[in-house]
Amino acid sequence: MRASIRAALQVLPRQDGEDTFLSDVLCGLSREPKRLPAKHFYDSEGSLLFEEITRLPEYYPTRTEIGILEERAGEIAALVPRGAALVEFGAGSTQKARLLLRAAPQIAAYVPVDISADYLAAESRGLERDVPRLVVAPVAADFTRPFALPRSLQGRPRVGFFPGSTIGNFEPGEATDFLRLAAGVLGPGARMIVGVDLVKDADVLHAAYNDAAGVTARFNLNLLVRINRELGADFDLGRFAHRAFYDATERRIEMHLESQAPQTVRIADRAFDFEAGETIHTENSYKYEPESFGALACSAGWRALALWTDRRRHFSVHALELA
Ligand code: AVI
Repeated sequence: MRASIRAALQVLPRQDGEDTFLSDVLCGLSREPKRLPAKHFYDSEGSLLFEEITRLPEYYPTRTEIGILEERAGEIAALVPRGAALVEFGAGSTQKARLLLRAAPQIAAYVPVDISADYLAAESRGLERDVPRLVVAPVAADFTRPFALPRSLQGRPRVGFFPGSTIGNFEPGEATDFLRLAAGVLGPGARMIVGVDLVKDADVLHAAYNDAAGVTARFNLNLLVRINRELGADFDLGRFAHRAFYDATERRIEMHLESQAPQTVRIADRAFDFEAGETIHTENSYKYEPESFGALACSAGWRALALWTDRRRHFSVHALELA
């Protein structure tokens, strides 16, 4: 790790204990119906599988959002104040931020916020090298909990960035809470750019979460691999199957792992019984109409500045401002 990044990296204390994974799994599998939090998909293997998903022909969100960011770069850049700090919530790869940084050279600082300090340091190092004019001030924190921005950003206009429709993995109430929290972190006068997947034809959605190569299935099942490895459980991977479907009433893709036979799984000193066909609900991915997302943002204190979609209206990018 280069000295400047090590010195700049702000690591905030984890509010969750080390056994969060264990307690989330035990609590989730004790519920009726059984559930596991989607945030636990992203161990190193899960993160690699997600990267692979983003390149699949059926998974339209990533390439569609990048297309919008490229095509509308000038309009987006025009909304970014001079000297601004770009604060990216949950900065996975910096690919999309780089598009904004190229389009808006007036951005003076980039603040990626992510739970993984190692990943942040590596990505930040690359950005510092490639964009020498930029102050890179990574913050290692859980961005769904309140955190403070580095003091060095005081006085700079702030622009939040939350691409990828990660907001769709929150329940709508959680999405409102997150946007409220982002408003508190960014402060008065802030702007925010959010990528949101749109309601569309169920066949397109179904294909995106049931790809022919089976990568999404591996991504889903990797959660059980992780539980076996880290918590010493005995899930038999051959006896669970990936299920993903669109619920048009809830406007969400649901992902589940379905037990293929009656079976008992042991984790720590607990035993969990499964009936044949019983599922563990692993993820929701909400889809919004542009208006319904605008209303949600409004209820969190933001007002709509601009909205861009692709020609097929598969994906949307919203620009918001604190009201
Ligand atoms: C990260 N998130 C926006 C993805 C989604 O589309 O909800 C996660 C994902 N799950 C299955 N495929 C992709």
